[in-house]
Amino acid sequence: MDIFIIGLMLASSVLGQPPAENKTCYQGNQKTAAECCPLPRMMEKSIADMCNSKYKALSPRVPPGVRKTEGSCVTQCIFTTIGGYNEKNNTLNIEAIRKAILTTTANAKAFLPLLNSSIDHCYPIISKDPQFLATPVSPIPEREGCSFLPPALMNCIKIDLFQNCPQKKWNNATECQRLNEKITTGCSFSSIVSG
Ligand SMILES: *[C@@H]1O[C@H](CO)[C@@H](O)[C@H](O)[C@H]1NC(C)=O
Ligand SMILES: *[C@@H]1O[C@H](CO)[C@@H](O)[C@H](O)[C@H]1NC(C)=O
Ligand SMILES: *[C@@H]1O[C@H](CO)[C@@H](O)[C@H](O)[C@H]1NC(C)=O
Ligand SMILES: *[C@@H]1O[C@H](CO)[C@@H](O)[C@H](O)[C@H]1NC(C)=O
Repeated sequence: MDIFIIGLMLASSVLGQPPAENKTCYQGNQKTAAECCPLPRMMEKSIADMCNSKYKALSPRVPPGVRKTEGSCVTQCIFTTIGGYNEKNNTLNIEAIRKAILTTTANAKAFLPLLNSSIDHCYPIISKDPQFLATPVSPIPEREGCSFLPPALMNCIKIDLFQNCPQKKWNNATECQRLNEKITTGCSFSSIVSG
């Protein structure tokens, strides 16, 4: 096959997938998300560690601003492990996800009143969005593409919690208000994790 045909196939295979994120989202952060509103850990550390060690080497890093052809294999692995993702039909099981999040965050008192509403806000939006339902394409032959749905749901929940941060957890510094403005313009939660 010549390079033109391969190029065409690659271009059409990513149709409908989420667009590349605005690269400037990652630039100019003067505080980290955790310095502004420290969110509780939402998935059990032992599961996250297991999924990280299983998929880290199999997940080439995609630089900010470059379109991803798949979601996060680590997040999909976590969701599958807790029964929150069905690999057969690319669907989320929101009650299993809720149970895992509420169990892991049981001691995060300030956030308890917010978690259900963030989950209930995000699930209907994410689970029906065609860009997250698009077929993922793996950049390497050793595994299948990983779904866009699990990381999209976590992104939405973290953004919702951050934007509704309990007052006693919120650092109202100007740099933090900047991060809030950024995610209001469509930047991902990942883009404000590092300084
Ligand atoms: C997807 O598969 C799961 C597990 O087999 C099943 O419980 C669920 O109802 C299915 N969802 C859809 C929309 O087909
Ligand atoms: C959150 O929802 C679950 C399941 O619907 C319920 O059992 C739990 O009491 C709710 N928690 C809060 C704080 O509203
Ligand atoms: C945060 O600071 C801004 C001004 O910089 C002020 O308008 C706002 O009310 C403050 N919010 C809180 C929660 O203190
Ligand atoms: C990219 O993101 C930055 C920061 O939020 C914003 O100021 C800018 O308008 C965005 N550009 C586009 C093309 O969306």
